[in-house]
Amino acid sequence: MSLQTSIHAQRRARLASMLGEGGIAIIPTAPERQRNRDSDFLFRHDSYFYYLTGFTEPGACLVITADGRSTLFCQPKDLEREIWDGYRLGPAAAPAALGVDAAHSISELDAKLPRLLENSGAVWYPFATHNGLAARVEGWLNAVRARARYGALCPAVQNDLCTLLDEMRLIKDAHEQAIMRRASAISAGAHIRAMQRSARMLRAGEEVREYHLDAELLYEFRQQGSQYPAYGSIVAAGANACVLHYRADTAPVRDGELVLIDAGCELDGYASDITRTFPANGRFTGPQRALYDLVLASQEAAVAATRAGARFTDPHDATVAVLAQGMLDLGLLDKSKAGTAQDVIEQRAYFQFYMHRTGHWLGMDVHDCGSYVEPGEVGQVSQRTDPLSGELITNRPSRVLRPGMVLTIEPGIYVRPAPGVPEAFHNIGIRIEDDAIVTESGCELITRGVPVKADEIEALMRA
Ligand code: GLY
Ligand code: MN
Ligand code: MN
Repeated sequence: MSLQTSIHAQRRARLASMLGEGGIAIIPTAPERQRNRDSDFLFRHDSYFYYLTGFTEPGACLVITADGRSTLFCQPKDLEREIWDGYRLGPAAAPAALGVDAAHSISELDAKLPRLLENSGAVWYPFATHNGLAARVEGWLNAVRARARYGALCPAVQNDLCTLLDEMRLIKDAHEQAIMRRASAISAGAHIRAMQRSARMLRAGEEVREYHLDAELLYEFRQQGSQYPAYGSIVAAGANACVLHYRADTAPVRDGELVLIDAGCELDGYASDITRTFPANGRFTGPQRALYDLVLASQEAAVAATRAGARFTDPHDATVAVLAQGMLDLGLLDKSKAGTAQDVIEQRAYFQFYMHRTGHWLGMDVHDCGSYVEPGEVGQVSQRTDPLSGELITNRPSRVLRPGMVLTIEPGIYVRPAPGVPEAFHNIGIRIEDDAIVTESGCELITRGVPVKADEIEALMRA
């Protein structure tokens, strides 16, 4: 068994040991999706399925039983389809290639699953992640019941498999961390390419558009062997940076404005997620630099708060404390109306310019799975009324960070023109985002292949 295969086999064994006596788990890969007529969207496997198999073909489903056996259903060998669509592993080769105990054609799933479910205590599958799966499970259970007169017992319990797999996926093992470091390095190189292209073209008097910079990102991702972007790249020139989910489009990148790029590649199933904000021409103006340095200081506070034993919300709270004081000092918020930094935090006045959280889990999915609540403390509920919306917010104790968790640290400031907001800051949007692996003593920033300090960005854009 190859190293890769044994990693997946170990994960399946661990999962099997958590299913409880007589438990059985069903994990399909993602469906293929039609784009138009006979063209499909590029296929991307299901992350849970891939985590347990490393198998990237469509049309597959994994079954694991508590005794540790795993059965794969996959596309059958078919010369004609392989001529058109490409190589298929096929059930005969699957056990040796993937380390599963048995494999069958996916066309036998409906016939074979009821037999596998027979006499099981509980069936586990991912809830609310695959359209139609719950209905298919119902169908298979129905087929088991139909065999009651032959002595078949039907599972009486259905459990959400995500509760087990999300916890496993939350802690990244050494193999996963190595892939994520490499994905981050590729993405960092892509950001540098885009920054340098912007300055080079403007220096040459050429017209720059957002898509020119997007092209640099895509080039570097593919050039370095990444399969595709981990999410829709944001390349936002000028005021577009204040649109949080803006996509790379056609807007001109103007001399004197900032560009915000939020982009990361996916490598071998794992995402990276980097944001940098830089002056299109390579030199920050005074007001841009003032806001940039504030966001960076808030990120440094968040990084310092990220370590094993801290809570997931600690980096966010550290960010907000720095931003709140900075917004008062720079005059974004009026001290005579907003009061002290503590008032700004309690009244959430900073929300006008900073309306998202400071991070999220990162892994196979860019917004990766894993509960943000500490599992042993879910019952410790407190409630408060949100000062802005008036909504009742239920708080539960935030997750305690542990070594091997991976999260982003991504504070920002977005200044939409509004009465009382100094004009010098209007339409400036800044975010700085890095990816961090939690360690015993702090965190490892794996995305710093592209610098964050304003001076260093200016230097590399001069190069
Ligand atoms: N690129 C998505 C995010 O930063 O969360
Ligand atoms: Mn992010
Ligand atoms: Mn991002």
